[in-house]
Amino acid sequence: MNALDIINEKRRGRELSAEEISFLVNGYTDGNIPDYQVSAFLMAVCLNGMSDAETAALTFAMRDSGKIMDLSQISGIKVDKHSTGGVGDKTTISLIPIVSAAGVPCAKLSGRGLGFTGGTLDKLECFPGFRTDLSDDEFVRQVKTIGAAISGQTDDLTPADRKLYALRDASGTVESIPLIASSIMSKKLASGADTIVLDVKTGAGAFMKTEEDSVRLAKAMIELGKIAGHRVSCFITDMNEPLGNAVGNVYEVMEAVELLKGNGPADYRELVLSLAGEMIFEGGKADSAAQGRTRAEKTIEDGSALEQLCRILDAQGSNRKYVLDTGLLETAAEEETFSAPHSGYIQGIQAELVGRAEAALGGGRETKEDPIDLSVGLTLLKKTGDYVQEGEPLLAVHFNSREKADAARELLAKAYTIGAADPGKKQVIKKRPEDFG
Ligand code: URA
Repeated sequence: MNALDIINEKRRGRELSAEEISFLVNGYTDGNIPDYQVSAFLMAVCLNGMSDAETAALTFAMRDSGKIMDLSQISGIKVDKHSTGGVGDKTTISLIPIVSAAGVPCAKLSGRGLGFTGGTLDKLECFPGFRTDLSDDEFVRQVKTIGAAISGQTDDLTPADRKLYALRDASGTVESIPLIASSIMSKKLASGADTIVLDVKTGAGAFMKTEEDSVRLAKAMIELGKIAGHRVSCFITDMNEPLGNAVGNVYEVMEAVELLKGNGPADYRELVLSLAGEMIFEGGKADSAAQGRTRAEKTIEDGSALEQLCRILDAQGSNRKYVLDTGLLETAAEEETFSAPHSGYIQGIQAELVGRAEAALGGGRETKEDPIDLSVGLTLLKKTGDYVQEGEPLLAVHFNSREKADAARELLAKAYTIGAADPGKKQVIKKRPEDFG
């Protein structure tokens, strides 16, 4: 077997065997097959696609390239959740406390933000002292003791995906459904959960720009779950405008805490409760997703979800006082508003531009090594479907540098479309697991 023959076969459109795919993945991970050959292979995949069997072989080869988390010491059905990433997506910070308060153990491995999308680990680090580098033993012990832990994915989990993802980024081969599906599912399968709930974002601020492509990605991941013997349920959710009102690490954390205190914007609340209902159902603590949702609502009303977040903070090196009083968290030194240039209904708010504006303030990173300012961000005061008068504030900008605030304003000026017709409110949930049969 050699890499060149495999590349040629893929270029000609022939279906590769599992052995050929794992030869390529292992050879690349070990450093025996060079970048230029694997780039050519990835481009052939982008152009010719992959069969279900090939996608599964690629997923398993990446899953098996590193360690697989062993959660067998934790009793109960372990349910994991993954979002394909978006702007203002602080879902995990309220979801994990809710689901674990309802009795479903949550062993959540999360990532950092890159480009215009945020990451849960950065957000959690707004809580002073919060540790995102738990060892495997600490991670499992914490889930056994308090029912939940949220920590960073270590380098020895799916090293093949990490290397391939960086190469895809540099070779124009990110946007391929089999490559995205196998990348996400290899990580989820290596994370050790029994059941996986996926939030596939769709729209201008998401990887998948159209609902049709999002459905294709969701179906590919459900199929991979079936082949691997894991239940996978998918939601397709809107990412045309940012989720909720807060964009930027510390402001998103505050919004997530507010949700657990019974407040929070309607779209964010709807998404969290829908995902929670499904996870509680899949975790065997409700007879249906609707019943799971009622349970989720109860954990907010009775304060048990808030208490769970407090326990997570106490267990992971921070202190519950930051949840009980989010005014203690560090925020930006200055604030100013960004106003509507003319009157009318907000037709749309481009999530990607808002995400890039937050990054321009210093809250995002271009490369994994860039430092970020957790204290800057934006608070949306109006959303799609709201009527605004000329000069009325559309959002608040929280900043530490005049120059960066000006750069953010330039992006924000292009983010809003305001017109005469009332477009109505956006529905955050486009498709639920039952829509996939
Ligand atoms: N997220 C991933 O983890 N992988 C992809 O390929 C795209 C989004």
